[in-house]
Amino acid sequence: MAAAAKDGDDLVQVAFENQVAWVTLNRPEKRNAMNPALNARMLEVLETLEGDARCGVLVLTGAGDAFSAGMDLKEYFRDAEGESRARVLKVRRDAYGWWRRLMWFEKPTIAMVNGWCFGGAFTPLVSCDLAVAAEDAQFGLSEINWGIIPAGNVTKAVAATMGLREALYYIMTGEVFDGRKAASLGLVNEAVPREVLRTRVRAIADRLLEKNPTVLKVAKDALKRVREMPWEQAEEYLTAKQEQLYFADKTEGRKQGMKQFLDDKSFRPGLEAYDRSKRSA
Ligand code: ACO
Repeated sequence: MAAAAKDGDDLVQVAFENQVAWVTLNRPEKRNAMNPALNARMLEVLETLEGDARCGVLVLTGAGDAFSAGMDLKEYFRDAEGESRARVLKVRRDAYGWWRRLMWFEKPTIAMVNGWCFGGAFTPLVSCDLAVAAEDAQFGLSEINWGIIPAGNVTKAVAATMGLREALYYIMTGEVFDGRKAASLGLVNEAVPREVLRTRVRAIADRLLEKNPTVLKVAKDALKRVREMPWEQAEEYLTAKQEQLYFADKTEGRKQGMKQFLDDKSFRPGLEAYDRSKRSA
């Protein structure tokens, strides 16, 4: 068990740079296919980063020319055929576990899709709050090509981001599409030339870092939650979350924002964030 954790250390690389944690899936020789060791490691990495002050925004990307070629067909699927039920469940829980953890991560998350993105990789992709792709990154729901359905919540991830016709088209044909198409489908926020991918992601991260982090967490979760709720329930939920923030935000950012606009006239909320370095008395 300890040996597996040690082997797994290299499978995910974490680099900190001015409040951004760059998390890189690191099996480039296997196009960053997700094997059980990588999934277990990602769970640990997310657990650690959640409480790490150096991580204000998390960026998920892949080493080499792939974001991730999806689940490891050998180690995740074929090897499981000879495993005990308990082991299969553990391996599945680790994979689903880190994707779920990512979906509800404490800090803002951005997927930086630098290349191949297949099948199972759609779940962590959509679990990230935002996604930016290289224009020439290649996406595919390749499950149909080798005889399974997009499970592992891939179908849910696709349903949450793409329209019905497009989703069915790509689920049923397994055709690949590029980053530009992924942006037009709503699967990623935007596609940019490869040479500016990192710069663009950094700029988005910087924009997020200006905001009140307590409010950001509630704001992003709220959208994900209300999509599944009827109107009246959503109204009640949002009101409750807003009121909860009055207590949860120890910096009283809302008061500070109003003060800086209404009294100090030092910023315009329509155009920018209030200055978080100033605290209410
Ligand atoms: N599972 C296991 N091994 C993989 C995977 C994968 N998903 N993807 C790539 N690899 C391995 C290959 O077996 C190969 O290993 P080897 O060097 O030991 O022979 C190595 O990675 C490189 O793969 P190539 O196919 O040689 O790389 P290439 O750059 O030509 O093609 C591509 C890249 C298109 C990503 C191709 O590897 C591929 O089709 N991979 C499978 C993609 C896929 O369908 N994933 C599953 C989605 S469904 C799901 O996730 C549930």
